[in-house]
Amino acid sequence: MVVTIVPRVESLASSGVLSIPKEYVRPQEELTSIGDIFEEEKKDEGPQVPTIDLRDIESDDPAVREKFRAELKRVASEWGVMHLVNHGIPDELIERVKKAGEEFFGLPIEEKEKYANDQTSGKIQGYGSKLANNASGQLEWEDYYFHLVFPEDKRDMTIWPNTPADYKVATEEYARVLRSLATRVLSALSACLGLEEDRLEKEVGGLEEMLLQMKINYYPKCPQPELALGVEAHTDVSALTFILHNMVPGLQLFYEGKWVTAKCVPNSIIMHIGDTIEILSNGKYKSILHRGLVNKEKVRISWAVFCEPPKEKIILKPLPEMVTEAEPALFPPRTFAQHIEHKLFRKDNPEDEAKSSE
Ligand SMILES: [Fe+2]
Repeated sequence: MVVTIVPRVESLASSGVLSIPKEYVRPQEELTSIGDIFEEEKKDEGPQVPTIDLRDIESDDPAVREKFRAELKRVASEWGVMHLVNHGIPDELIERVKKAGEEFFGLPIEEKEKYANDQTSGKIQGYGSKLANNASGQLEWEDYYFHLVFPEDKRDMTIWPNTPADYKVATEEYARVLRSLATRVLSALSACLGLEEDRLEKEVGGLEEMLLQMKINYYPKCPQPELALGVEAHTDVSALTFILHNMVPGLQLFYEGKWVTAKCVPNSIIMHIGDTIEILSNGKYKSILHRGLVNKEKVRISWAVFCEPPKEKIILKPLPEMVTEAEPALFPPRTFAQHIEHKLFRKDNPEDEAKSSE
């Protein structure tokens, strides 16, 4: 049996190296835009990631609901990313999910290796680090834990961490409530486009086929954060992505030609519109280019849940209602798997190349 030894970024970081290996150093043209994330987060001038208050999402008052929908539509079209507040997920549950993930990553690396994935054999769930997928050997400054959390019958609980004891309980509960939040948001996004409220949900597979995949991203302290990225620039392939984090800044959004740093908003969940919804809406909703910076002082952890259509069962293409003579279809029909494949091989310009990973 061939055992591939995958270097963990955490071991590299804790070894005390003062300069990072060349595989982690970004290309020259990218370095000019990488600044100190703590300084960037403090800046108040210029555009900021919008906040959407979900309190009025299902208001009985039609005028209040319409006002909410108009704002959601604007933000989903202009930004495709937002801080959700009053999302209805109890803070206490979110704290438990975060504590469980922090405790898991606090285990010695040998313990975590027991859950290692094996990307070369297609076993993608578990503890992992990015493998270089191109000639440059470029790597990202992060380790992660990845597993499917919903629907229940598609889960493999043997892959979920046994330690800490609350991990499975808290994560299961979080997946369940997040699944209903996804329905509420998809309904509102459908209504904003003049569609039946359950339309987008159906188009991405509904309760039975839409998959929720949890990825805990662990970004160790980096001795040369000005040279590396935790996650390179990409757009999410998902329908929606929901993100929690440990209040250490890192996320940047490429908005109107500039990198905008997301502030850390207490008790919020960051939500991205992914490529899947961008395609179905024929570009009316936007899947924004984003990346993650690292820093010297604090470990950053984020919990992303990707809500994805099934890989093969659904052909994704602009909904007929979204296509007119004046607004022809912007995207060809593709399965989700074909869409991912297409992104991986689209290397026509550096920004598109950057869009290949999730
Ligand atoms: Fe992403």
